[in-house]
Amino acid sequence: MLSKLAHLQAATLLRRGLHSSVASGVSVATKKTVQGPPSPEYIFERESKYGAHNYHPLPVALEKGKGVYVWDVEGRKYFDFLSAYSAVNQGHCHPKIVDALKSQAEKLTLTSRAFYNTVLGEYEEYVTKLFNYQKLLPMNTGVEAGETACKLARKWGYTVKGIPKYKAKIIFAAGNFWGRTLSAISSSTDPSSYDGFGPFMPGFEIIPYNDLPALERALQDPNVAAFMVEPIQGEAGVIIPEPGYLAGVRQLCTQHQVLFIADEIQTGLARTGRWLAVDHERVRPDMVLLGKALSGGLYPVSAVLCDDEVMLTIRPGEHGSTYGGNPLGCRVAITALEVLEEENLVENAEKMGALLRHELMKLPSDVVTAVRGKGLLNAIVIKETKDYDAWKVCLRLRDNGLLAKPTHGDIIRLAPPLVIKEDEIQESVEIIHKTILSF
Ligand SMILES: Cc1ncc(COP(=O)(O)O)c(C=O)c1O
Repeated sequence: MLSKLAHLQAATLLRRGLHSSVASGVSVATKKTVQGPPSPEYIFERESKYGAHNYHPLPVALEKGKGVYVWDVEGRKYFDFLSAYSAVNQGHCHPKIVDALKSQAEKLTLTSRAFYNTVLGEYEEYVTKLFNYQKLLPMNTGVEAGETACKLARKWGYTVKGIPKYKAKIIFAAGNFWGRTLSAISSSTDPSSYDGFGPFMPGFEIIPYNDLPALERALQDPNVAAFMVEPIQGEAGVIIPEPGYLAGVRQLCTQHQVLFIADEIQTGLARTGRWLAVDHERVRPDMVLLGKALSGGLYPVSAVLCDDEVMLTIRPGEHGSTYGGNPLGCRVAITALEVLEEENLVENAEKMGALLRHELMKLPSDVVTAVRGKGLLNAIVIKETKDYDAWKVCLRLRDNGLLAKPTHGDIIRLAPPLVIKEDEIQESVEIIHKTILSF
């Protein structure tokens, strides 16, 4: 039997247009829903009831964000140390990017590529000059940029390198993550990504990461068109290759006439204390993939950058996207890049990252067995015991006011927005110390 209060609240939910089975079936949802926003429990259960179960979110229900902070529905404030997987480098709801989005939204949002629009060319010119490539191909999500790069590599392989028709190969590094499409999971070594989804894309080969001899062996095959690699593997747990790896990749790819594709979707755009993570070794890939922070977390915008020799192998009608290159996304992206420049976020990421790691090194090594990272892309490794693991640490970090998420079991990525200031680093480090010491 529903209590009187529950009936009242069920009626409130119905007035809000929610189905009665949620209201009645979700008894916990009745805790705090008479007025104001729904309770966290209600939010968790509604998602669980009506949404696919393809994620396992940390139980926190957010409703507001500003800079390095987010607030939950009950008004609790947290440091965001995930930054939406490095999409919110410029900080949540950056006012300049929000204004750009609003004013462009009132003018023109989508034309499709059937017509020209006033913003796409401006955006392409801005980005190609900033990163010193001849051309840009606009897409929306990161995984589409990866798909686009694979298509470009194959087309270049056939039309420029002279690989026999449909024999082209693309090499990937074990531990890579570039999204969830069938191509992306076909190159994955993580069973939770690929298991149960075959058959897989042919023409993909996987070699160990950070292993130049393995790359050299793979490149002996004349049908290899490209090697696609993350300069630092983000999802795998912030895995940093040996110094010289990227320079070695560049050299081997040049030597074997193979395209070097750098997936900078997570590592790019100031995250590691450089505009691109490949800048740490001063190498220039043949293709660069950008996404996530390209729009500062406001809108899905991704891009492939390369020179004419590669880009012009794809001709009208051979690739595209309804939303790719839309004026709203382009305006947001120009502004998001301007913010990175104007606020010196490359330098800030470098400086704050060094400070963060310096402080994290002081954590007790019987709980935190490793600290690593570059700029503000960092990770700690938690020694799991029967009493705690990385998930439990993240729950307690949440209770203490900091949000982070485990990646691959025992690793916690620590990647706050790049606008974080010194006192905020100190405050967040205190939360991390207090949390770790409580175990
Ligand atoms: C390195 C890298 N590439 C590609 C992607 C895919 O981006 P999206 O989720 O926008 O498709 C991700 C997402 O985490 C990533 O980390």
